[in-house]
Amino acid sequence: MYTRKNQRNLTGAEKKKFVQAVLELKRRGTYEEFVELHIQYYISDAEDGLRAGHMAPSFLPWHRQFLLDFEGALQKVDKSVTIPYWDWTADNSHSSSLWAESFLGGNGRQGDRQVMTGPFAHRAGNWPIRTSVTDSDFLTRNFGRPADPVSLPTAAELAGAMNEKVYDASPWDSTARTGFRNRLEGWTTGGDKAPWRNHNRVHRWVGGEMLGAASPNDPVFWLHHAFVDLLWDRWQSKHPKATYLPHKRLPRNDPQSGRALSAEEPMPPWNIKPSQLLDHKNLYRYDA
Ligand code: CU
Ligand code: CU
Repeated sequence: MYTRKNQRNLTGAEKKKFVQAVLELKRRGTYEEFVELHIQYYISDAEDGLRAGHMAPSFLPWHRQFLLDFEGALQKVDKSVTIPYWDWTADNSHSSSLWAESFLGGNGRQGDRQVMTGPFAHRAGNWPIRTSVTDSDFLTRNFGRPADPVSLPTAAELAGAMNEKVYDASPWDSTARTGFRNRLEGWTTGGDKAPWRNHNRVHRWVGGEMLGAASPNDPVFWLHHAFVDLLWDRWQSKHPKATYLPHKRLPRNDPQSGRALSAEEPMPPWNIKPSQLLDHKNLYRYDA
């Protein structure tokens, strides 16, 4: 059992150990495998086939297992390392300590949006981007997307998701209008003043590599998803009788049959069911 901490409470030494372990996975080539896996499972509603990772009920357990695998890889490098979380409702400025030179580095520069500071800047020599959906081989960010401003979700906006009473709802995709999963994942059907909610809006706010299927290329991906994982815990505590839905395999005549996973169907690429990932307290805890 280990603890995942709020990144704002990490000591300088803890930040350094996390960064060093991430860089070591990059050096070994292991990091690329995580980016590739995420690209492979970035399947949208518009495509046929099973959506295990996104736009589906298993969004939360799929990313829980993805983070556990990554954390396991980090811990092979340094046993003391865990994934910190980024509470973006609190640390919501360009100058948050998260973006310091000694931690994740800062915003991209004007023009090509290249990150120029910190350990993941291309010019530091340790973070070439090899697996991408764009052509650039350097990490990019575009905080707040000034050309068409987007803000980080506030606690009040997040409350809209946390107050949802059911885990997910038909049609179990990006168009579900109710349910915690989609309100947190953050797809809306358009026409809204804020077309991206919560989790999705954070990807938009950071911008650059964080925008698409290759978003794990930006190490902030892990801190963002650790917070999403923590929010799932908080939602469970708030709604103790609610459970993962759909509970049973969808009937064959359901348009989402074979496309969205119930609690008892294994999630690829693992042979692990959502029902096995509803509680993680024997593995790790959060400091909040
Ligand atoms: Cu993802
Ligand atoms: Cu995400």
